[in-house]
Amino acid sequence: MINYRENFPLLKRICADHPLQYFDNAATSPKPQVVIDAVNDYYNLHNANVHRGPNFLAEEATTLYEDARLSVSEFIGAKREEIIFTAGTTASINLVARSWGEANLKKGDVVALSRAEHHANIVPWLQLKEKIGIVLEYIEINADGTFNAESLNKIFAQSKLRLLAITLASNVLGQYYDLNPIIKRAQSLGVICLVDAAQGITHRPLNVKELDPDFLVFSGHKLFAPAGVGILYGRRELLEAMPPFLGSGGMIAEVLEQSYTPAELPDKFEAGTPNIEGAIGLGVAIKFIKKIGWTEIVSREKVLSDYFLEKIKDLDFVKILGGEEGRLPLFSLVLKDLHPHDVADLLGERGIIVRAGHHCAQPLHDYFQVAATLRASLSFYNSLEEIDYFINSLKEIKTLLQS
Ligand code: ALA
Repeated sequence: MINYRENFPLLKRICADHPLQYFDNAATSPKPQVVIDAVNDYYNLHNANVHRGPNFLAEEATTLYEDARLSVSEFIGAKREEIIFTAGTTASINLVARSWGEANLKKGDVVALSRAEHHANIVPWLQLKEKIGIVLEYIEINADGTFNAESLNKIFAQSKLRLLAITLASNVLGQYYDLNPIIKRAQSLGVICLVDAAQGITHRPLNVKELDPDFLVFSGHKLFAPAGVGILYGRRELLEAMPPFLGSGGMIAEVLEQSYTPAELPDKFEAGTPNIEGAIGLGVAIKFIKKIGWTEIVSREKVLSDYFLEKIKDLDFVKILGGEEGRLPLFSLVLKDLHPHDVADLLGERGIIVRAGHHCAQPLHDYFQVAATLRASLSFYNSLEEIDYFINSLKEIKTLLQS
C-alpha cells in the first residue's frame, strides 16, 4: 500500500515514542501540506477581501475564491451558482431551516429525520418546532444500522410530510445509506429532501445530478480542508425563491434608506466577509482528493474496514454498534465494564487519537441504550499496522484497568 501519511504534517508528530496514530477522522481530518500551503499563500501573498476592491490583490483573492467554488461545483456535479459557501454543515442546515423552513413550513407540517442524525441535523429542526410548531418524526433504524422499511412507509404515509432531512452516512454507525430510492419516493410526493453529507462526502464520490437532493450540505474540515468553511448546495429554483438569511454587504445588489435588493445567487446567501482562506483551502483539498482518486480511496477503505471488523472479533469485551454491510471505516465500540473516556485517555497516552462519548448523536445512543461509545474513525491513509497497534493497545488497556 502507498504510504499517504507523509502528506500530513500532523502525522509526523511522535507521541509516546510512536508516530501519531489518528483514528478521529469523523471529528475532523488532518490537513495535507498542500492545503496548509494554500492558506499560508493567501495571507502571505494576497490577504484581500473578495468581490470588493478594484486592486490586483483583491482581484487575485476573488479569482482564487471563485475558482474554489468551481472546484466544489465540479466535484459534486452542481452548477456554480448552486454552491453557497457557509461556515460548515451546521451553518448550512441552519440556513435552510431559517430561510426555506420559515418561509415554507407551518404549524403541524411534518419534518422527518432518521434516528441516525447527529445534533446538527436535529437541533435546528427542534428550534423550528419551538418557533412555528412543526412536527418532528424519526425514521427508525434496525440493529444493523439500516433504515426500517415499515417506519419509512409510515413516514411517507403522512399527508403533512413536507421535508426529509437525512444523513448520507452515520457518524456513529458507519452506515453509508443508499438514499436514491428514498429521495425519488419523497420527490414523487412533493417532499423536499435535504441530505447531510458531512460524513458521506469524505468516503465516496457524490454527484447531485444522480443523487438528486434538493439541498445537500457538508463541511470542509472533515474533507482535508480548513475548519470554518462548508457548503450548502441547493437546487437553483429553490435558492432563488428563498429569502436571504443573514443581511449585510456582500449579499446585496443595492441598498436604499428604506429597502434593499438582494444580490443574485450565490452571493445572496454570502453576507459579510467570507472565510476566504478556508474556501481556497477547500478547493485545494478537492484537488488533493481527485489526485489520489476515488477508486483508490474506496478500495483502501474497504480493506481497512474488513481488516478492522475481522481483528476486533478477537476482543470478547468489545461490541460494534451497527452492522457490517455498507459500512465505512468508522466504528463505535461498546466496551464491557470499561469506560470509553478512560480508554480514550489511555489510548492517547500511546499516541492513538480516538473520540469517546455520544459523538453529538445523543438520541442515537439513547436508542441503543448506551451512554457512550469509543469511536475509531479511519480514513484512506490509515494502515493495517495501525489497526494492529490499536487492537493490541485495547487488549493491554483492558488488562491494566482490570488488574
Ligand atoms: N459530528 C462530528 C463527529 O462525529 C463532530 O465527531
